[in-house]
This record gives sequence, structure tokens and C-alpha cells, in this order.
Amino acid sequence: MTNNPHGGKLINRIVSNEEFKIFKENKYNLKTINLNRRELSDVEMISIGGFSPLEGFMCQNDYISVIDNMRLSNGLIWTIPITLSTTSEEADKFDLGDKILLLDEKGEEVAILFLEEKFKYDKDLEAEKVYKTKDKEHPGVRTLYSQGEVLLGGKINVVERNSHNSFYKYYLTPEETRKLFKEKGWKTIVGFQTRNPIHRAHEYIQKCALEICDGLFIHPIVGETKSDDVPAEVRMKCYEVLIENYYPKDRVVLAINPAYMRYAGPREAIFHAIVRKNYGCTHFIVGRDHAGVGNYYGPYDAQKIFYEFNPEELGIVPLFFENTFYCKRCGNMASSKTCPHKEEDRIVLSGTKVRQMLQEEEMPPIEFTRPEIAKILIEATKKKRTDYNI
Ligand code: ADX
Repeated sequence: MTNNPHGGKLINRIVSNEEFKIFKENKYNLKTINLNRRELSDVEMISIGGFSPLEGFMCQNDYISVIDNMRLSNGLIWTIPITLSTTSEEADKFDLGDKILLLDEKGEEVAILFLEEKFKYDKDLEAEKVYKTKDKEHPGVRTLYSQGEVLLGGKINVVERNSHNSFYKYYLTPEETRKLFKEKGWKTIVGFQTRNPIHRAHEYIQKCALEICDGLFIHPIVGETKSDDVPAEVRMKCYEVLIENYYPKDRVVLAINPAYMRYAGPREAIFHAIVRKNYGCTHFIVGRDHAGVGNYYGPYDAQKIFYEFNPEELGIVPLFFENTFYCKRCGNMASSKTCPHKEEDRIVLSGTKVRQMLQEEEMPPIEFTRPEIAKILIEATKKKRTDYNI
């Protein structure tokens, strides 16, 4: 039994090539917009129902309500604005009711936007409310300030296409995961969001969750992440190897999440949970500094935000984990909730230290990363050095 989609109905905005052509044929003055990577990823997530109940880019009443109240205008919980921006000059060319052809970076036709509204918005307010900072060093804030000044709202119809070819076997839509979870007979499914290569802390919290849930849905983001994050292909390879060697295969589903990382910390944690609810999950893991970046959020802000909502209304159960590490005296993975020992008994490595070890082709300790994973990461680091000649 999978969870109900957010808002009660799984959205599907995909149309066949033929239908798409019909829309275009009525093309008295069809105008176009080139989507950036985030918008392209949002189009895909809307089309497959990952963002249910959204059927397109937000109109003003939803946008304002999400910014101010973390809810859509109909009251449904929603924390991240899903918007399509353009410049004022471009926006002047569009009339309400226009069908606008949305193109990807290569100029290929991706979707039709049925333009319902165009409106100006306050970037400072969005930055403060959604990201809790106006600092342009924050990757999400930087993207926001680089956008056009006008937002275009309206439903979209998206043409069927084969994106993510390299991850083809891991491409599952919410409809497909729901079917799969049902076939497996799972009643409780815990979703795991990640953008980093798997380490022992990830493995530990996933397995703790698997002790109490029927199935684990590992759902790494392969939409755009920061340029210094490890590329998705490498991260997927790590997962394949880990599942092969250390997981009960019949209790795990691995699939890619085509969403774009916003690094909005607490608000994004709620958003991530809602997206996994749409994929059929009943539970969702939220650990330390979920979807955070730098020092913009407290380590547990992304957990505290869940208390602002009625759990039944949210409709997916968060599973909270404290900072997890290997304790030499306990002889196992633990957190301060389960381990009474001192800092010096614990193996804690910073991301910078790990990157440095990988650069020097040194294996991080087995208590931090499984050797199979370390090998893949060392190879990838070497390849990157060769590719970039550094
Ligand atoms: S995130 O941006 O997708 O959150 P990451 O891939 O590192 O980054 O984390 C995936 C999940 O694991 C998040 O829920 C995060 O809070 C959790 N997590 C990562 N490292 C730890 C850790 N050492 N202890 C507890 N939770 C962790």
C-alpha cells in the first residue's frame, strides 16, 4: 500500500508526440522561451507528477502564499516556489492566453506553457524567506538573483522524450515506483534523499530506517548540483556497488531523482519529503543539515521545521537522525543519542579532509567509507584530474 500523492491525485502532464504536434499546429504566432537547467528539471518533475499537485509553473497567488505561508493558495503545504522567469522585455512580447513553446538548451522542443499570468516579484523577499539569506555565495540565492524580473505562470504540457539516457535503468516515474512498491507488497517505504557519495553514516541511517520499514527507496538527485559535488554517474556507481555487497537487494529500490538541488535547507527538507510522498513513500529520512550548504542553517533546522506542520496534513512521516559517526570504543556506528564516549573516540572527517585524501590516492578509513566506494572515488578523482589537466 503506497502513500497517497500530495493533494490526492498524481499529476501527469506528458503528451505523446502526436498530441504535442496538434498543440503546435494551432501555432498562430507561437512564441518560445529557452529554459535554464533548473526550469528544465522542474518541467520534467511536474510532467511525471513528482511535484503533484502542481500542473505547471506557479501563478501569483500560489507564489505569494508559498513565500509567506509555506502553503499553496488552496492551503496545501508547499515550501519551495516553482517558477519560470523571463526578462521584462521578453515578457512584454507575451499575452495572457498565449501558448509558449519551451525549449531546452539545445533548442529542442520540450513543452507548451499555457500562459495564465505574468507578474513581478521581490527577489530579496524570496531569498530571505526561502533561503534565510541574501548572500549570493549561497548557490540557490545566486540562481535566484540571476533570474529575469518577471515570472510566467500557467499549466504545461510536456512532450514524451528520453532524457537521462545514461541512467535509463534507474529512471522510474512516481507511477512506476508506486506500482513496484505494491508488487513488492511493501506497506511502509522510507525515502532517502542524497546528493553526495554514500558513506558509512548514510548507510547506517538507511539501515536503521530499514529496521522499521518494509522497503528502502534510495533516490539520489541527478538534476544539477553544485559544481564541486561529485558527479551523478560516480555516485550511482557507488550505490550499485554498495547495494551489491552490503544490502538485502530485495528490500531496496534505487532510482534517480531528476530534481534540481536548491540547497534551501529546512524548506527544502519539507519539499523533498513531499516529492518522495508522490513517489509512494510513507517515511522520509532527515539527518544532520539536510539539504544545507555552508553554515547558513543550524544542523537540525531541517528537522525542527517539521514541527510547524500537522503530521497528518503533511502525510509522510519524517525519521530524524542526529549526527552519526563511528565510535572506536562502541566498535560501531552511533550518534550522541546512543554513544556516551568522547570526541576523541569518534572518527569524524570533514569533507575537505576526505577530498584531500582522495586526491592523494589515500583510502579514507574503513569506518568512514567502505573500501569499494573509496576505490571508485579515487578513480573518479584521478579521472577528473586528467580530464581537467590538474
Ligand atoms: S543532502 O543535501 O542531500 O541532504 P547528503 O547527500 O550528504 O546531502 O545527505 C543525505 C541525507 O543524509 C540527509 O538527510 C542528511 O541530513 C543525512 N546525513 C548526511 N550525513 C550525515 C551524518 N553524518 N549524520 C546524520 N545524517 C547525515
